[in-house]
Amino acid sequence: MSVIIKNGRIVTAVDDYFADIYVENETITRIGVDLALPADHTIDATGKLVFPGGIDPHTHFDMPFGGTTSADDFESGTIAAAFGGTTTVIDFAIQTKGESTLKGLDVWHGKAADKATIDYSFHMIVTDMPESRLFELRTLADSGVTSYKLFMAYPGVLYVDDGTLYRTFRQAGLNGTRICMHAENGIVIDEIIKEAIRDGKLTPEYHAKTRPTRMEAEGVHRSIAIAEVAEVPLYIVHLSSADALEQVKLARMRGVDVQAETCPQYLFLDSSMYDGTEAEPFAGAKWVMTPALREKWNQAVLWQGLKQHHLSAVATDHCPFCYNGQWRPGQPAPARPGKELGRNDFTKIPNGAPGVENRMALMYHGGVVEGRLSLNRFVELTSTSAAKTFGMFPKKGTIAVGSDADIVIFDPNRTETISVNNPRTHHMRADYSAFEGFEVKGYPDTVLSRGRILVANGELKTRGGGQFIRRVRCEELLR
Ligand code: URP
Ligand code: ZN
Ligand code: ZN
Repeated sequence: MSVIIKNGRIVTAVDDYFADIYVENETITRIGVDLALPADHTIDATGKLVFPGGIDPHTHFDMPFGGTTSADDFESGTIAAAFGGTTTVIDFAIQTKGESTLKGLDVWHGKAADKATIDYSFHMIVTDMPESRLFELRTLADSGVTSYKLFMAYPGVLYVDDGTLYRTFRQAGLNGTRICMHAENGIVIDEIIKEAIRDGKLTPEYHAKTRPTRMEAEGVHRSIAIAEVAEVPLYIVHLSSADALEQVKLARMRGVDVQAETCPQYLFLDSSMYDGTEAEPFAGAKWVMTPALREKWNQAVLWQGLKQHHLSAVATDHCPFCYNGQWRPGQPAPARPGKELGRNDFTKIPNGAPGVENRMALMYHGGVVEGRLSLNRFVELTSTSAAKTFGMFPKKGTIAVGSDADIVIFDPNRTETISVNNPRTHHMRADYSAFEGFEVKGYPDTVLSRGRILVANGELKTRGGGQFIRRVRCEELLR
């Protein structure tokens, strides 16, 4: 199979030029002006931008959580990602407490294999780590899982104590791997939640009101301190507030190896979403996610953080739960109940929201079109940085000879209104869009993954065929 992409404007994290790209089988084999080579497929990219495929380093497909399971599995989730211009995801495999992380990895391989349309890798969520199991971290790294997520939040579910954090951090550092941190003081937050419940404050708005940004900043500060002592590179996931960002900045200025991602929801949405509507006060449940949406002024600070390199990547934390579930009159109970689980108590609303399909278009519009980010920085934040941080570069994250032919042909003039009712912007299984009604200028037209045309003319051209990406360790990246 060969593909030639003609006359496009190729933009990577560092380049910006006009040329043709020649793809043989899975790989980019030539880049040049006026390439005259025979190809099975010719794509005319005149007037289009040609980006490396997006990389979303934070998704939760088929994830048991909050008394249910996220609505997208690896089939629907990776198809939706492809429509949105994302060609690689790093999802989170979960260790069942008391069991082997290696068993958890097998379970996630089973969920993804034969279902995924785009390439995928896994971080491992560590829920306990006795000394007797520390050896597993090296085995995971040898199998291509070179990053681990730990939680300071969700006591009784995913939370681990500081001793477990230190033990895992230390071993991960010795192995040359990276820690991903959900940084929020879940123990204090649980006490605040108890007070709210005692006072009968049970509506979705209290999800945000019981999770102050100080408790996120404290988690960021504490995890950085532990990582410094344990000598492990740290990556703060889903950073949501100016308060938390300040801690990252201070540490980076001291030379600490800490990076942080934010997500479109924290850049485009704010805590007023929890108010719901008069007709539907529970509607705020759609945005119950953790960390919570913040006061609007935080957005400008996060955008500045992206521009000034204090924040390193934009992920989605895609973790969708349907809004209209079993409570709907006359409907059978769905296999995967959703937000309605918390109709009478916000603490029972499954945490998370959809977004894997919307990230590239939102970031292009809010970043490039609205003048907050350069084109190169847009590519870096949506693709290259995650490839480098998580051991996939230069196979992924750039357009270069020898790289995988993961390519997005992006129409900078195409406008779309993101909506659950727009069949061009919504292939996720969630029954609502977190970004309903957002108008974006710029949208992916054609999407290739390892040379396979996945999406063209608004249609899915290839289903399945996504492969597991074995990632390398941080130290191997330096070689
Ligand atoms: O609300 C969220 N973020 N759900 C997914 C789990 C997590 O904390 O990333
Ligand atoms: Zn998290
Ligand atoms: Zn998450």
